[in-house]
Amino acid sequence: MRHPVLLIATMVGISALAFGCSKTGAGSSASAGGEAAYAGPITSDDVATGQVVFQTYCNSCHPGGEKGKGPNLHDVGIHPAKARMFIREGSGRMPAFNKSRISDDQLEAVLAYLATMGTFGAQ
Ligand code: HEC
Repeated sequence: MRHPVLLIATMVGISALAFGCSKTGAGSSASAGGEAAYAGPITSDDVATGQVVFQTYCNSCHPGGEKGKGPNLHDVGIHPAKARMFIREGSGRMPAFNKSRISDDQLEAVLAYLATMGTFGAQ
């Protein structure tokens, strides 16, 4: 009460902090929730199709699955859900691919191909 201006300044500061945090929090929890929405086993074993899809859409940035513009995909041990989410929604500098470019079947096939390079670890 003796320092109402200070009190208001503090409250503004705290709410700015809270807002800042909730903004980042919302971002990461949105992708965490998003990733859960993509959970599930890989439903294709069509590695040949997956390789073609990979060559077409992914190889420019992940050459042969190695680091290029994008990170190395060999033996990284991520979950298939993360790969599905990156492909459908993009992330950072990775573009999103919608169903008109990569169908659900082709997406599963590309996951089967990624599995051959150990992207999902031993599962
Ligand atoms: C224009 C370049 C580009 C293309 C094309 C691209 N990626 Fe990526 N990819 C990236 C970048 C950059 C990242 C890292 C992004 C980030 O962490 O925000 C990434 C991340 C990933 C990851 C996550 C790796 C990890 O360890 O977390 C996977 C899986 C992946 N890409 C698969 C693919 C597949 C499959 C395709 C083709 C359908 C593809 N990418 C096409 C650039 C690309």
